[in-house]
Amino acid sequence: MRVIGIETSCDETAVAVYDDVRGLLSHALYSQIAMHQAYGGVVPELASRDHVRRLLPLVREALAKSGSARDSIDGVAYTAGPGLIGALLTGAGFARSLAYAWGTPAIRVHHLEGHLLAPLLEDSPPSFPFLALLVSGGHTQLIDVAGLGRYRILGETLDDAAGEAFDKTAKMLGLPYPGGAALAHLAENGRAGRFVFPRPMLDRPGLAFSFSGLKTAALVALRGRALDDELRADVARGFQEAVVDTLAEKSRRALRATGHRRLVVAGGVGANRKLRQRLGVIAAESGAELYFPRTEFCTDNGAMIALAGCLRLAASRLGATRGAGGTMAGPGVLDGAGAASGGIAPVWSDFGLGARANWPLANDESSGV
Ligand code: KG4
Ligand code: ZN
Repeated sequence: MRVIGIETSCDETAVAVYDDVRGLLSHALYSQIAMHQAYGGVVPELASRDHVRRLLPLVREALAKSGSARDSIDGVAYTAGPGLIGALLTGAGFARSLAYAWGTPAIRVHHLEGHLLAPLLEDSPPSFPFLALLVSGGHTQLIDVAGLGRYRILGETLDDAAGEAFDKTAKMLGLPYPGGAALAHLAENGRAGRFVFPRPMLDRPGLAFSFSGLKTAALVALRGRALDDELRADVARGFQEAVVDTLAEKSRRALRATGHRRLVVAGGVGANRKLRQRLGVIAAESGAELYFPRTEFCTDNGAMIALAGCLRLAASRLGATRGAGGTMAGPGVLDGAGAASGGIAPVWSDFGLGARANWPLANDESSGV
């Protein structure tokens, strides 16, 4: 089974081809970061327009690199949400049109499901069940993953996401958007102990996070001081240590609470080297093993969408042969032939594209065909 995956939830246009036997066959990506940098963040309308420009050439590139003829593609998967609604709609409209023209099913994929399954693209993938720490620009969640589509949120951020806190603090340090990776680089030259920022929510039980106060603490540290290289590096180090400590301690608690033997870290902040090192230690101390995707598949990419789409398509075919078809389809989802799947009536009007700006992961109407 071979699936093409299309990702357009934010500022990356990405396409990949995944085969259930041969694995990832190709992936192509265009990052809009340079375009948005002038504005200090993503401009949604510009993002949507650029996705429209990039999609077709990237599909051609991914197909050519994979050596796949278009009649060898069994499904077209696309990120249906969460994300910027205009950006999602460009990908959804494009993907569903492609699926219709090719006579193959269109598969809606939850962006966060894509992130947390991304380690399955690697040579030694984790098996289910596992604990996932999902840390991206928009989300910070600890998720109990029992199997495909069986997700339970154990804890999440009450305010800023970890990546958002990295980006906002990086901006204060004069780094261009998105500053997470650059802040991590700056922190390498920082002195330990000059700034000890609060470890939010560690003083109380539970698995919730809060990062907005940390950003304010960094602002206070910078106030009234000349922003020289030494200060910037020291603040970056203090900030990163506080975030890493918090994420690691909550992951330790979640491992203990669930008894899971596998810990997965995914999402853009999962590329952070210090975080990976610390989680490796936490996992070892807890008798668990740590898994993460290669760096380029931590941030947004098409490979994770193609993989998730392929698993979903396979599951729906298995379900259909067992007489359980239609259970994974969300409201208003159309199948490749244009008929409403599972007989479920649309509950929101988006012309059947299935795109949703806000979409909780632990919702029953998860990704599906
Ligand atoms: O998963 P992602 O590509 O997008 C969302 O789905 O949100 O994550 C992007 C986030 C940005 O906030 C970026 O600054 C952060 O991941 N990021 C990092 C690193 N690389 C990317 N944060 C800390 N350290 C890094 N090395
Ligand atoms: Zn993402």
